[in-house]
Amino acid sequence: MQCANALVSTPWQEESDEIANCAKFLREITQGLSNYAQKSQPITTLCNARHCSTALIRHLKEWCESCGLHGPNNICIAGGLPMNFPSTGFHHITVCSGKAQDDIDFFTQVLGQRLIKQTILFDGRFAHYHLYYANGHIDPGTVMTSFPYSRVQGRPGSGQVQSTAYSVQPGALQFWLQHLDRHKVEHEEIHERFGQRFLAFKHPAGLGFEVIEDPRDTRSGTEIEGIDAPVSARGFNSITLSVREIAEDERFLEEALGFRKTGVDGKYHRFEVGQGGPGCTVDLHHDAERPSGSRTFGAGTVHHVAYNVPSDEDLKWQKSYYEELGYTDVSEVKDRNYFHSIYVRSPGGVLMECAATADGGFTKDEAFNELGTHLLLPAWFEERREEIMAMLEPIRVPEWHPKVAVDAKHPIASHRKPVFIREEVGAGVH
Ligand SMILES: [Fe+2]
Repeated sequence: MQCANALVSTPWQEESDEIANCAKFLREITQGLSNYAQKSQPITTLCNARHCSTALIRHLKEWCESCGLHGPNNICIAGGLPMNFPSTGFHHITVCSGKAQDDIDFFTQVLGQRLIKQTILFDGRFAHYHLYYANGHIDPGTVMTSFPYSRVQGRPGSGQVQSTAYSVQPGALQFWLQHLDRHKVEHEEIHERFGQRFLAFKHPAGLGFEVIEDPRDTRSGTEIEGIDAPVSARGFNSITLSVREIAEDERFLEEALGFRKTGVDGKYHRFEVGQGGPGCTVDLHHDAERPSGSRTFGAGTVHHVAYNVPSDEDLKWQKSYYEELGYTDVSEVKDRNYFHSIYVRSPGGVLMECAATADGGFTKDEAFNELGTHLLLPAWFEERREEIMAMLEPIRVPEWHPKVAVDAKHPIASHRKPVFIREEVGAGVH
């Protein structure tokens, strides 16, 4: 009873209508919880700290399913509980491409994104570029990072991100068909999944991309040469993971990261985290017969997907929580200069990262209006700059590449306020 009262109390009720509804529902079942609690000793001790919640969720889910309240027309107690998982949606996605210049041309000229950072891979003996792209506002859920890695070829397969979808507004796909043809990009015809029209196409290194029509995406468009703002790609909509089995990845997404399952369309199972919708959606593609893909850095494969957590404290919590669940292969916290990260291999094989943006974010070493224009090295590599430069291919950023702009009033993609750039740094730059 004490536990149920704690669950329905503030501050969760204040954060969204969804949570307020959930809290209301929980009040209505308080008596049921009380009855349940009498049979399950742990439930009375689970309400004090966030890391206890998942065990509670499991208990509640069992109870909920057995009592018949779990279903698409009812609030699911397990899915609707005001869980306080830290992940809010995508932080970045990291791919291994081939030639650096092909990569820059694809992301800037075909997808209309902006190069916001040139640096290098921090691990290993050989220097490889690490290039960052984002939409014009560097909105959460738009940061793509790329290792041009033509030294080694990757092998696409299951246990990998199969495609990355960017949102466009309804009606924009006709433009994209012509736009892709103009740039001689290999593409398919328009298809539909979960009731959304999308167009699939290939990066020069063979990576799968999509533009998908989604009117819910409120991130503003950016006009560049060849792409008008109304038809531009706004940022990540969703990713599709190829997996041989659904059950364990479903469990991982729900129990370890706080996703909720929101639909099934044929072989595709949809999950959403945080506020849900664009920038917060992962689809599992059940492809039982597909051989496993490579897990190394290798051209033509996605290396990992990163979810945003608001702080280093959340990062530590997520690490210990992975360990509590038995995912003991989680990495130590790594310093990625612009953010801090932990990595864990999901059951289906996809490498998952949680990332907390560091103080200063992408503007910690570069003036806001010069983002992406210089090769930047962390302090510990600076003395090897000449040696590193000799290992990198020359690259050219398009001259028309516009300055990065920020709109401080732009809607934030999560109630947890992910921060990529400091407003005081970007204020006044357009
Ligand atoms: Fe990453």
